[in-house]
Amino acid sequence: MPKTPRGLALLGSTGSIGTSTLDVVDRLEGRFRVIALAAGSNLARVAAQVGKYRPAVVSVSDRRDADKLRALLGDRRIRVVYGPEGALEVARAEGADTVVSAITGMSGFRPTLEAVRAGRRVALANKESMVVGGELLTREAALSGARIIPVDSEHSGVFQCLAGETRRYVRKVILTASGGPFLKTPLKDLGAKTPEEALRHPRWVMGRKVTIDSATLMNKGLELIEARWLFDLDPGRLDVLIHPQSAVHALVEMTDGSVLAQLGATDMRLPIQYALTWPERRDSGLPALDLARTGRLEFRRVDERRFPLFGLARRALVEGGSLPVALNAANEVAVAAFLEKKIRFTDIAAVVAGTLDRHRAGPAGTVDAIIDIDRNARRDARRHFPQR
Ligand SMILES: NC(=O)c1ccc[n+]([C@@H]2O[C@H](COP(=O)([O-])OP(=O)(O)OC[C@H]3O[C@@H](n4cnc5c(N)ncnc54)[C@H](OP(=O)(O)O)[C@@H]3O)[C@@H](O)[C@H]2O)c1
Repeated sequence: MPKTPRGLALLGSTGSIGTSTLDVVDRLEGRFRVIALAAGSNLARVAAQVGKYRPAVVSVSDRRDADKLRALLGDRRIRVVYGPEGALEVARAEGADTVVSAITGMSGFRPTLEAVRAGRRVALANKESMVVGGELLTREAALSGARIIPVDSEHSGVFQCLAGETRRYVRKVILTASGGPFLKTPLKDLGAKTPEEALRHPRWVMGRKVTIDSATLMNKGLELIEARWLFDLDPGRLDVLIHPQSAVHALVEMTDGSVLAQLGATDMRLPIQYALTWPERRDSGLPALDLARTGRLEFRRVDERRFPLFGLARRALVEGGSLPVALNAANEVAVAAFLEKKIRFTDIAAVVAGTLDRHRAGPAGTVDAIIDIDRNARRDARRHFPQR
């Protein structure tokens, strides 16, 4: 007998993870039914998705976009909502037992929390949620029974290595980083790197913000903070290695000295499918990793002179409290300014460092506190833009 399809709500449906998720849904042929979609302002894409998947509810960025989408759809049976409240409605949509959280940045935090509070299986791509609210999200998940399953390939790798293992035997978790497009660029040339160059990632095709974070290695710093909460590990037991081939996604060192590794092709559909079907594994139909073709696997330590943002993220990881919230806020502001060509590549680190240095650390255990710290840090970050 065919199984009843499971309901899926997708936050960030028009993005890189969102479209890959829908491709996985197609490949899983009838295993999932799309109940709700949340997007920003890519109306042409979201309209096509609504036409294909017929969700009960769809959210877009604001009222004007909602009006335009209603006109495009001409179908009154589909509820069109908008803004932050709209995304929350998608996150708790009736009939969806699984929520994919793939809005980018801090905007994904409250919808992720809403899905956790509703007790859903949350396939988590939006790492910023865990960075700003890891303590709160894990506490709320314990209360509601929500299960947070990582989509980030490195965390999916750790999650897969830990399956069936006893946590007290884990000595260390190591995430790998490709090193991005500027791994070998002379340090003196980094300041002149343009958004176009920074967006040319050697291994992964991703959204703009996460691609810039990969070029600065802030992405790996955010991932360390995410791993701290996902796997309940002290900062001292988390490490990163540069691995340009991106074949090994994560390594877990056990107390007996054995090191477990998870390898896979650089295709986000693999960790997305695993998060959706776990603990089952289905034939993805995707090409497997060809190690003979990869040839060499190299690993080296992170050079923090090249990647100062990684050092700043590590500091936030160790100090905890409000620091990761301020780090994330300043980084979002600086990355947006770099993409708009208002600041230089190397200014991103200067803006984040300046913001953290002025930040008065405190607790960040409630939604209100997190939103407040985020707002203040964003305001402060702009003061650290260089005057040219
Ligand atoms: N891409 C990857 O391979 C990858 C890997 C691991 C983790 N992640 C994480 O996954 C998340 C998404 O990344 P991505 O690469 O998919 O980003 P992306 O391609 O930029 O897509 C972002 C999505 O979020 C939507 N969105 C943005 N702001 C929104 C708002 N305020 N309200 C509602 N929707 C909003 C966008 O809508 P519109 O486009 O319609 O405006 C789009 O659907 C990030 O947190 C990233 O770090 C990504």
